[in-house]
Amino acid sequence: MDLLEKIKTIKQEIKDFNAPDNDQLESFRLKFISRKGIMSNLFDEFKRIPNNHKKAVGQALNDLKNDAQTRFQELASSLKSQEGSSKSSGIDLSLPPVQNTLGTVHPLTSVKLQIIEIFERIGFNVSEGPEIEDDWHNFTALNFPHNHPAREMQDTFFIEKPSKADDKSDDIALRTHTSSVQVRVMEQTDPPIRTLSPGRVFRNEAISARAHCIFHQVEGLYVDENVSFADLKQTLYYFAREMFGKDTKVRFRPSYFPFTEPSAELDITCLICHGEGCPICKYSGWVEIGGAGMVDPNVLSNCNIDPEKYTGFAFGMGIERITMLKYQIKDIRLFTENDIRFLKQFTSLY
Ligand code: PHE
Repeated sequence: MDLLEKIKTIKQEIKDFNAPDNDQLESFRLKFISRKGIMSNLFDEFKRIPNNHKKAVGQALNDLKNDAQTRFQELASSLKSQEGSSKSSGIDLSLPPVQNTLGTVHPLTSVKLQIIEIFERIGFNVSEGPEIEDDWHNFTALNFPHNHPAREMQDTFFIEKPSKADDKSDDIALRTHTSSVQVRVMEQTDPPIRTLSPGRVFRNEAISARAHCIFHQVEGLYVDENVSFADLKQTLYYFAREMFGKDTKVRFRPSYFPFTEPSAELDITCLICHGEGCPICKYSGWVEIGGAGMVDPNVLSNCNIDPEKYTGFAFGMGIERITMLKYQIKDIRLFTENDIRFLKQFTSLY
């Protein structure tokens, strides 16, 4: 058969070739495109034909090569689109859905949100501040004398402590309470102020079932004209009843904080024995949940608020403590151990 005839036949073969699957596509490639396929035979034969035929046959050969390439692309892309459509039609819509496995909110986050929600209802907003604090916001503005024991190394994690005995102004520490945030708010806002500052705090304490060096607080601050201790008592009474139940009573015991005067420790009726006396409340019927008091006039003037015109109250509570009381958790370390068996028990919260 002469070469042009051969080329014509192969051309037709290429045109008619179908590749229903990848194997067929590969055999097309091997036969018509690969160096070891039909083409190389044709080019060998081409070398042997008389010169005056070379131009026409060469042209036909090149066309054939291009045809093979084009057909290969066509076959490959139709195979691909077939695969795509057969995949989507392969979905079985009658199968039951795979259940979403939701994580749970950490109990401390949940209790924090519950506390915020309760105070938001009576007009408190939320403010946050840095965990690394300067001496002014954590101590000095809050009326801590320079030699106050809380400044000592055993309580505070210092990051920089270049200070001498009577000048602490360059000290940088991890905040020991979120009262520092309240200083920042008072410096930046004119009264009336009603704000809640939740956050993580740090104290250099030995870790045990009851204490941790990292824990969380929610502190509250209310500054306005004519704010009184009665407002403080009523606010915390409202909170205790909303948080722990309608029968909860509150009790204020005299105490001392540098930034409040007068100051009080805040107790609620024991949630386990409801005041009867039990091992949790050491048979007193009461458990402590935080501290509170009237903002010391020195603190107000440190924050450029006129203490002649304004008064305020402040309170602070430990979130771990409240969570432990509310859900009868016996060891504070459980909050940071990430034991899924512990965390799963709070699935239904917030
Ligand atoms: N800042 C105090 C603490 O961390 C708590 C507190 C806040 C007490 C506000 C009184 C008023 O212990």
